[in-house]
Amino acid sequence: MCGIVGHVGSEQAAPILLDGLRRLEYRGYDSAGVAIHTDGGELKVVRAVGKLRNLEAQLNASPLPGTVGIGHTRWATHGRPSEVNAHPHVAGPIVVVHNGIIENHLALRARLEERGAKIASDTDTELVAHLVHFKVKDGLDLESAVRAALRELHGAYAIAVLSKNEPDRIVVAKSSSPLVLGLGDGATYCGSDIPALLPYTRRMVFLEDGDMAVLTREDASVTRIDTGEKVERAEKHIDWSSVMAEKAGFKHFMLKEIHEQPRAIEDTLRGRLDRENADVHGHEIGLSDADAKAIQRVYLLACGTSHHAAMTGRYYLEQIAKIPTTVELASEFRGRDPIIGPGDLVVAVSQSGETIDTLMAAREAKEKGAKVLAIANVIGSAIPRLADAAFYTHAGPEIGVASTKCFSAQLANLLMLSIWLGRRRGTLDTNGARELVEGLAKLPVQMRDVVIGTRQLVANLAKRYRDARDVLFLGRGLSFPIALEGALKLKEISYVHAEGYAAGEMKHGPIALIDSAVPVIVLMPKDRWYDKTLSNLQEAMAREGQVIGIATEGDEAAQRLTQDVIEIPAVLEALTPFLTVLPLQLYAYYVADFKGTDVDQPRNLAKTVTVE
Ligand code: M6R
Repeated sequence: MCGIVGHVGSEQAAPILLDGLRRLEYRGYDSAGVAIHTDGGELKVVRAVGKLRNLEAQLNASPLPGTVGIGHTRWATHGRPSEVNAHPHVAGPIVVVHNGIIENHLALRARLEERGAKIASDTDTELVAHLVHFKVKDGLDLESAVRAALRELHGAYAIAVLSKNEPDRIVVAKSSSPLVLGLGDGATYCGSDIPALLPYTRRMVFLEDGDMAVLTREDASVTRIDTGEKVERAEKHIDWSSVMAEKAGFKHFMLKEIHEQPRAIEDTLRGRLDRENADVHGHEIGLSDADAKAIQRVYLLACGTSHHAAMTGRYYLEQIAKIPTTVELASEFRGRDPIIGPGDLVVAVSQSGETIDTLMAAREAKEKGAKVLAIANVIGSAIPRLADAAFYTHAGPEIGVASTKCFSAQLANLLMLSIWLGRRRGTLDTNGARELVEGLAKLPVQMRDVVIGTRQLVANLAKRYRDARDVLFLGRGLSFPIALEGALKLKEISYVHAEGYAAGEMKHGPIALIDSAVPVIVLMPKDRWYDKTLSNLQEAMAREGQVIGIATEGDEAAQRLTQDVIEIPAVLEALTPFLTVLPLQLYAYYVADFKGTDVDQPRNLAKTVTVE
């Protein structure tokens, strides 16, 4: 998730831009850059890979005196982290920074190259710079050129644009990516998020999707991109502290990231669902149709939460693509000399893309001749670099150590992979594919409703059971990995002993743990396993367990048989994990918060595990 900062005023721009970018560091980044209209009448760009201190060192060595500029921290989405891919991007007199994903970048690149554009980077952003440049060459001023260019773009973006020919202004626009404007005395600012602007002004204007604005020293004038019509956006006074602002007003990053899941899924699905043909655009999967048909077996390798996503993925791959699938803990796969080779597809699932066990396991599989596909959230990280292809999740950087939004995004990629394979192998017909694709498209709204609609009830339950010594999570089929994930989340951040169990296994041992002091959280959506799960629930009730059901809306048996029910909407069976996991994440969060543990940085844990 990139960060944008802009300033037009009378103070020096460079320190303001660097300070603003520093305040956006929590969003994650791999390179940074600034563009400044210098006092000498030039428009200069400086970019550096890595931390902001690298950019700062360059600016210290060769200062850029000037009062108008834009800055950017890049979290790679198209093209690896490198100086050439870092923002700002330049085309003739035009300089652009961008946050988001331009969906029609392939067609746009081809069109621009046909017109003679020399494109230096792998990014979608540079294409925007060239497109605006062509419009300027056609005789438009900066504002009109940006407007005309934006009308040709599909996708999510927040952009800020400078032109060497109009040094007194910044043109910005927004569609589905955040951008806020700041109004000062004789200065105007823009930023991806409030914290970037807080030291300079508390008077903010929030753009709406489809808005663009021209920022000058005097003011910010907002218009609609499509009609050009002028609109008024109310000025708001922000009295948050900087720390509150980084977390968008949430108490912890984890809670913010739980709430960001609808957006994470939207971004991950964007440009990949082919709703017209009931299919998935699979070019990132790196397999030909013939390769897809020839796969003998899939191995899913992962650790921790990613392993639970992989377990869910096995159901998808077996049910939808009908491919025998093995899920392996990456740390157990190695050293066992697994029987694997050409004809096998290995999918390495990792949020960070750097987990050493997953990396080493994928390397071993590759050495044995298997094709390796990475599902990772960090572009250019070690596992995608090693893999034959990378199918990235676009959840944005995850700051909380406990993975939440990346888990949901991994589920989305595993389901899309299964749909793509199923279509090519003839195991998924058009109707079945259409149901899944349409169901996926509806998910963000349903996820938002579940998070908002259940959080108070979940918080009340967490308060009631916060001192429980043990908690059991039960589920069958697709709900089994989610039960494991619910238990892992609770252990990680609240330090409460929790176990996830296949509901059918309970009577083979763990039932001995149940008594009136043990909350038992039963995942019981209306699916093919429902009746059997109901029997297991009754076994728990008979031992006086405190049963909380995560059930489909309107499930009367759940209401009758459990102490408390958290409802999720009825969705296709394959989509239930996306919804059932949400109350479990919230439950872990609230228990930890009531206990006062360090939610975002739990003891003994690291976000990226690079030791074996
Ligand atoms: O970056 P990865 O997805 O490869 O990380 C794997 C695990 O270390 C990770 O999922 C860990 O279990 C998280 N803390 C879970 O919340």
